[in-house]
Amino acid sequence: MITIISYDINPHKTNYLRSMIRIVILGAGNVSTHLCKAFNASEEILLIQLYSRNKSSLKSFSETIETTSSISELKAADVYIIAIADDSIKSFSETLPFNDKLVVHTSGSMSISELSENNRKGVFYPLQTFTKESEVDFINIPICIEASTIPDLKLLKKLGRTISEKVVKINSDERAKLHLAAVFVNNFVNHLYQKGSEILEENSLPFDLLKPLIIETVNKIESLSPKEAQTGPAKRNDIKTIEKHLHLLKNSTHKELYLQLTKAIQKKYNP
Ligand SMILES: NC(=O)c1ccc[n+]([C@@H]2O[C@H](COP(=O)([O-])OP(=O)(O)OC[C@H]3O[C@@H](n4cnc5c(N)ncnc54)[C@H](OP(=O)(O)O)[C@@H]3O)[C@@H](O)[C@H]2O)c1
Repeated sequence: MITIISYDINPHKTNYLRSMIRIVILGAGNVSTHLCKAFNASEEILLIQLYSRNKSSLKSFSETIETTSSISELKAADVYIIAIADDSIKSFSETLPFNDKLVVHTSGSMSISELSENNRKGVFYPLQTFTKESEVDFINIPICIEASTIPDLKLLKKLGRTISEKVVKINSDERAKLHLAAVFVNNFVNHLYQKGSEILEENSLPFDLLKPLIIETVNKIESLSPKEAQTGPAKRNDIKTIEKHLHLLKNSTHKELYLQLTKAIQKKYNP
């Protein structure tokens, strides 16, 4: 016996689906991993597909998203988000097999003009440090957007608002400076954690001892300016302590770094 099943098409549901923003993400690294999670959790986004040139990087995504490693299989979407290494954005965007779609990159340092002329251009830069293994909450992450046309800018604003409360319009020149500042406060500071951890390790002391200090340094910035928050021998100009530290430092790179930073702080507070 043949059973005929009829489906009722709910016009409200169809309209709802139509108002969702369809996304394809290109690249399967740190940023892509977190964007996929955030967009998948949003009811206003249809995450259509994830592309990576490398099949093995797609394995961990394949249960939740349709994936492809073939650029010719890319599906139709409202926004294509390129989240790949900065140096490859330009050449990769040239290889996309369609025209006049909105294609954005997620880089802080790359100009919007890096993107191919074949498509409409934009930027969707989440100002945060992303590592696959570390959870992030997008709600307070500034999403810096840029687009060549007003309708595209509106679409990126709507897209950003689905995951964050802080969507800001920033042009390529401003973003490059923002990224430069971010390198100082994140990458360089983290490198200094690394140096601190090496010094402790050489002396068989646990890095955990420094964590409350690191956390308080970060917390202070909520109520004080960086200038007001500074403490330490360089600010006080405690020469004996500085000399003692330099004597303790055996590694010439550590010594050079210590001297440069000390001089910079001294210059700021004791010009
Ligand atoms: N990580 C952050 O904290 C952060 C924050 C904000 C913005 N961003 C920006 O987001 C973008 C991605 O950064 P990420 O940290 O996610 O990078 P990532 O973890 O290093 O991942 C890079 C991805 O790019 C792919 N890729 C590299 N060259 C490619 C090429 N020529 N063609 C196709 N795919 C290529 C890699 O594929 P394979 O695995 O095959 O090499 C990988 O999937 C960058 O523009 C970066 O500036 C990063």
